[in-house]
Amino acid sequence: MKISLAATSPLRQPDFVFGVATAAFQIEGGADSRLPCIWDTFCAEPGRIKDGSDGLTACDHIHRWHDDIELIAALGVDAYRFSIAWGRVINVDGSINQAGLDFYLQLLDALQARGIKAFVTLYHWDLPQYLQDLGGWLKRDTAYKFADYADKVSRAFGDRVYSYATLNEPFCSAYLSYEAGIHAPGVQNRQQGRQVAHHLLLAHGLALKVLQHNAPQAKNGIVLNFSPCPPASKSEADVRAADMADQYHNQWYLKPLMQGCYPKLLEQLPLAEQPDIAAGDMAIIAQPLDFLGVNYYTRTVYRANNKGWFSDVPPTSPPLTDMGWEIYPQGLTEVLLDMNTRYSLPPVYITENGAAMPDALQQGKIEDSERVAYFQQHLQAVEQAIDAGMRIDGYFAWSLMDNFEWAEGYAKRFGIVYVDYTTQQRTLKASAIALRDCFAGRTHVG
Ligand code: FCB
Repeated sequence: MKISLAATSPLRQPDFVFGVATAAFQIEGGADSRLPCIWDTFCAEPGRIKDGSDGLTACDHIHRWHDDIELIAALGVDAYRFSIAWGRVINVDGSINQAGLDFYLQLLDALQARGIKAFVTLYHWDLPQYLQDLGGWLKRDTAYKFADYADKVSRAFGDRVYSYATLNEPFCSAYLSYEAGIHAPGVQNRQQGRQVAHHLLLAHGLALKVLQHNAPQAKNGIVLNFSPCPPASKSEADVRAADMADQYHNQWYLKPLMQGCYPKLLEQLPLAEQPDIAAGDMAIIAQPLDFLGVNYYTRTVYRANNKGWFSDVPPTSPPLTDMGWEIYPQGLTEVLLDMNTRYSLPPVYITENGAAMPDALQQGKIEDSERVAYFQQHLQAVEQAIDAGMRIDGYFAWSLMDNFEWAEGYAKRFGIVYVDYTTQQRTLKASAIALRDCFAGRTHVG
C-alpha cells in the first residue's frame, strides 16, 4: 500500500511543507495541571459525549510528549501542527503559569532540534471555564482576553514558532457550539451563534495584530473549515438553499477576513438574530493574513426546507468514512478553486485532512488501506488545485494519532498512528508507513 506522487507533482517542490496535526484537548490529558475548560464541563454532562468519555487523560501526551516527538520525527515530516491549551499557560488572574508555558517551550525546543517547523494554533476550542462563567464568547471582552493571551504566549515563545494560527475552525466554536448544540457549551440559539462568530473573528483580528508585532518572522493566520455545498436537485429552491448554506457555513468566516463584510445573507436574518457589530470591528477582522489554513473532510448536500431555510441531506451510499462522511476528494479541489476565484487569497496550507476508519489491531498491524486511498486521492486533489494556478504551500494529515474526537469520544479513530488507550501504546498504521515513505521519496524524481 503506497502513496505516490507523480514525478512532476508540485508537491515534490522542496519548499512544500508536509506535516501532521493534533490539538491540545484531544491528546494532552494532564487535566490536573491546567485550568478546567468548557470541554471538561461538557464531558461531565450526561449524554453529551457518545461513549461517555472525557479528556482527562486522552493520549497522555503531557507525559509522553518526548516519545511522541520521536514518533513525529520518525515520520519524516517537515512540520507539526498542535495547539496550546489556554488554561495551561494563563492563570485566572491573567498571569503566566510558568510550568504550563515550560511544557510548550520544551516541545518547541525539541521540534527545533529536529528541524521540524512548529505550526501553533492558539485556540482549538478549549476556552477556560472561568471565562465561560463570565459569558465566554458571547462577551466582547473575551476577544480582548484572547489577544492578551496571544501577547503573553508569543512574547514567551520568541522565534521558536514558524507559524501561528489564531483560531481553529470558528464555524465549530460558533455554529456547532451555539446553534447545533453538539459541541461545548451545547447551546441552541441562532442569535448567540452569530454573536459568538463575530466575537471570535474580532478575537482573531485583535490577536493577529499582536502576533504581527511580537512575531513578525512567523507566518500568522487563521484556520477555517470548508465543505462544498451542492444542491440536492436543480430546482430553484434547492439551488438557492445550497447557496444560503454556503454563505452561512463557509463564506460567513472567510468573507469578513478577505473583504471586511459578512455575506448578504446577514441582511435576510431577522434583526433579532443579527450580531452586534461595533464600529471599526470589520477593519480589525480584515487585516492581511500571512496564510489561510484550510481544513477539508467532506462535502454536504443541501435542500430547501419548508421554513425558507436549508437542510442538509445526509449521505447514504458509499464510500463513507466511519463518521458517516462522504469521501469526496474532488470537493477539496472545488472548494479551493472556488475561494481562489472569489477572493484575493494569501498562500494556503491544507491544515487538516483525513478520515476516521474502523481500525483494528490484528497481529500487531493496522491495515487501513481505505485511509491510504483517502490520502492519495486528496493529495491529488491538492495537486489539481495547484496545477490550476493556486498557491498552496503545505498539507497536514489529521491526525498524528487516534485521539478524543469531541462529541464522538474515543470511538472514532482519525490517527495515522493507532493508540491503545489502556496501555497508551502507539502503533504505526499502514497509512503512517505510506505517508512516511511518500515524504521520504519526494526528493527523488521518478
Ligand atoms: C476538525 C477538528 C479536529 C478534528 C477533526 C476530525 O473539525 O478541527 O479537531 O476533530 O475535525
